Amino acid sequence: MVRKILKYGEPVLETKAEPVTEFDTAELRELIADMWETMYAAKGVGLAAPQIGTSKRISVIDISVGEDEKQKIVIINPEITFSEGKQSGEEGCLSIPGFREPVSRANKVKVRAQNEKGEIIELDGEELLARAFQHEIDHLNGILFINHLSALKRDIIRRKIKKLQKAGEWD
Ligand code: NI
Repeated sequence: MVRKILKYGEPVLETKAEPVTEFDTAELRELIADMWETMYAAKGVGLAAPQIGTSKRISVIDISVGEDEKQKIVIINPEITFSEGKQSGEEGCLSIPGFREPVSRANKVKVRAQNEKGEIIELDGEELLARAFQHEIDHLNGILFINHLSALKRDIIRRKIKKLQKAGEWD
């Protein structure tokens, strides 16, 4: 089921999400299926559970945006165990639509997480995939890409969003 993607301003987006402790359940499978449907409907490359209002440490990523089944990644309770290098590139977020800004990120990361069955998985990401891992893991810690911008840039975006909220164009 396609779920509503919550927008910046919803407290759950800036709350540290809870670890998943029960695996291989119908509830978890359904949540992840909803996350995929919602992400593809919005044409995103990643989505974190808090973005649909569930404060759990789960993210889905597909940098092929549905073109290649093998690139679908589900990470549960993920941690970045190693990062290296730097990259800068435009970043956006389905919860902050209409805004894109350059964000500096590590160029390579290693991630340790669990899969839907609770098994430990280790993944490597470079460039766009590394960026997606960092962005989606940030979400689980209540951090949005605008938190990586200068205070000045962040305030400009916040003010624009406040105007959109007042105009009823941000919900
Ligand atoms: Ni995002």
